[in-house]
Amino acid sequence: MRKPVMAGNWKMNKTRDEALQFIYAVSDKLPSKDKLDSIICAPAIILRDLVKRQGDNLRIGAQNSHFAESGAYTGEVSPVMLSSTGVEYVILGHSERRAYFNETDETVNLKIKAALSHDLKPIVCCGESLEERENGTTHSVLEKQITLGLKDIKEEELETIIIAYEPIWAIGTGKVASAEMADEACGYIRSLIEKLYSKKASDKIRILYGGSVSTKSVSELMAQPNIDGGLVGGASLNADSFIELCEKAI
Ligand code: 13P
Repeated sequence: MRKPVMAGNWKMNKTRDEALQFIYAVSDKLPSKDKLDSIICAPAIILRDLVKRQGDNLRIGAQNSHFAESGAYTGEVSPVMLSSTGVEYVILGHSERRAYFNETDETVNLKIKAALSHDLKPIVCCGESLEERENGTTHSVLEKQITLGLKDIKEEELETIIIAYEPIWAIGTGKVASAEMADEACGYIRSLIEKLYSKKASDKIRILYGGSVSTKSVSELMAQPNIDGGLVGGASLNADSFIELCEKAI
């Protein structure tokens, strides 16, 4: 019932030439957009170039957005600017942005609202640290991130939002969460959506798992009832590997 999603997060990788080579290599090899939403989230400076060449079955996303439409925020990119490039998605609240750029649940909430008002579809990240997992506070961490992140967002707006559960200890470490562990956390997020909105909203929302997803682990993760797709860093950088992830996701 929920269309699967395979989203690559390139982080701060690839020059313009490397990105274009990737796009040409994948463009006619991805599953049909009726079956899968295939997305690449790239550095802001190359978004327009990628959108122009995205083809039928790939969509492009940004990795961050400011919440203001314009202003004295040196170095930042606004949702108006992103929208004008033709990108469809934007990752918000990634743990690397929370850790290195002081993003909080409150700024993530402002960014989600700003993105929605400029027709960008947010991919909202949440997830616990290793210490929180070991302390047994994973659920309360997720509850705080989801409740504050989605504050004052209406049920009809939720329909364009994708949530990504990314346990920080699994990101870039090669230490993928077990499929059961990932499904349990995504199921908990789904139950929070039911509590905050409705059963209908929780049945509809797409929840991705991210953290060392590879062509080896993707099938088992995708087979879990609460996991609708992947948000993939390292394994999305290689064209063949991204194509394989997309094929295995459907
Ligand atoms: P890796 O797949 O490299 O662990 O990165 C995950 C991630 O942070 C995606 O947003």
